[in-house]
Amino acid sequence: PAVQPFQVPLPLLPVLTPGATRGGADVYDITMRRTGAEILPGLSTDVLTYDGHFPGGIVRARSGRPVVMRQHNQLGVDTSVHLHGASVPVTSDGDPMNTFASGTSRTYTYPNQQPHASLWYHDHAHHSESENCYRGLSGSYLLTDDVEEALPLPAGRYDVTVALRDAHFDDDGQLLYILDDAAGRSTILANGKPYPYLQVAARKYRFRLLNSSNLRFFALRLADGSPFTQIGSDGGLLPRPFTTDALLLSPAERADVVIDFSRYPVGTRLVLENTLGPGDPDRTGKVMRFDVVRKAPDPSRVPSVLRTLPPLPPVTGRRSFDLNVAVVGGEPQGTINGRVYDPARIDTDIPYGASEVWTVTNTNTDVPHNFHMHLVQFRVLERNGKSPTGAEAGLKDTVCLLPGETVKLQATFDSYRGTYVYHCHLLDHSAMGMMARMRIR
Ligand code: C2O
Ligand code: CU
Repeated sequence: PAVQPFQVPLPLLPVLTPGATRGGADVYDITMRRTGAEILPGLSTDVLTYDGHFPGGIVRARSGRPVVMRQHNQLGVDTSVHLHGASVPVTSDGDPMNTFASGTSRTYTYPNQQPHASLWYHDHAHHSESENCYRGLSGSYLLTDDVEEALPLPAGRYDVTVALRDAHFDDDGQLLYILDDAAGRSTILANGKPYPYLQVAARKYRFRLLNSSNLRFFALRLADGSPFTQIGSDGGLLPRPFTTDALLLSPAERADVVIDFSRYPVGTRLVLENTLGPGDPDRTGKVMRFDVVRKAPDPSRVPSVLRTLPPLPPVTGRRSFDLNVAVVGGEPQGTINGRVYDPARIDTDIPYGASEVWTVTNTNTDVPHNFHMHLVQFRVLERNGKSPTGAEAGLKDTVCLLPGETVKLQATFDSYRGTYVYHCHLLDHSAMGMMARMRIR
């Protein structure tokens, strides 16, 4: 059904509360289950959820304080839960092959021995991660620390998490899991609702944006073309704020932005647009709307220095990776350095403590990819041979690779030993094999 935009308010994602505190850790019990959600007005859509929420609720965590998540699988399918962007021991990483069956539970322990970052958790069961995430299995995990909390940024109700994605519905409002949306049924959802509006005060807001789509990239802009300030990316705050009027977000990437609505008179309605296809711009060209409804005092500020990143360690090794998707014998296959994912193979052996420069190339000239590494937050050194913009000056765990692009990154492997995957985060590509394994030892 065609959806009238801007009819429903943006839901605020629920913050999950730990059921217990044990040994200095917050313990959450989460039941993964199927349920119906009202996504389109008046229709109930079958979805997969963490604890009944579509999308999943927010876990609030603090550096140095562990979180234990006991996941109880009542989904009817196997699952694996990955905390994206986190540095965790291999047993709690949610590896694609380390699944657990419906009717069983799994305890994940997250040490949170890393600086603040806007992380997220999602399904990672190999071959079903894409469909499981699409049907609802993702949620936000906001890790904070003293550095972040000391800043006078917009906070409390002026700090809003927004999970963006697309979805395709049939006439009964059921989710269609299709890769190629030839019928043009794409609908953009923000926090699980189509094209919502958010009533805002004429002051600064902080928005923590997540692209939780499987395949869709967003190129976001405000309809009046006015600038906003990016203050953070995957791995937390940027060293310095970056002013821009456009924001590209590939699947799994996060961006923290501050929008100052004080320049608008009360009564202004400002659409957040998406300028990137595919799809009918009537359905994919808009995301949500900000309605300026009142004035408010604004004690918040965006300081000119947000954080200091530690200096890059000396480089101990260099490697290159080519991402490719091709049709082989009628079947689409994803490869890294020409090889399809094999869960029995170690692709990259890394000495513990190493700091390596990886040059990653999207070999395809017509298909976008991106590149995500488990375990580490890395630094982008170069994009297509040039210094990256300020938006990529922070810590990253997923980096966008448009057709033909090359990114040079540096990653340091000094947290945990074990075998972890790296992959394209267009989940249908990793499901097709664009994934490989690195062993830190
Ligand atoms: Cu988010 Cu492996 O991924
Ligand atoms: Cu890809």
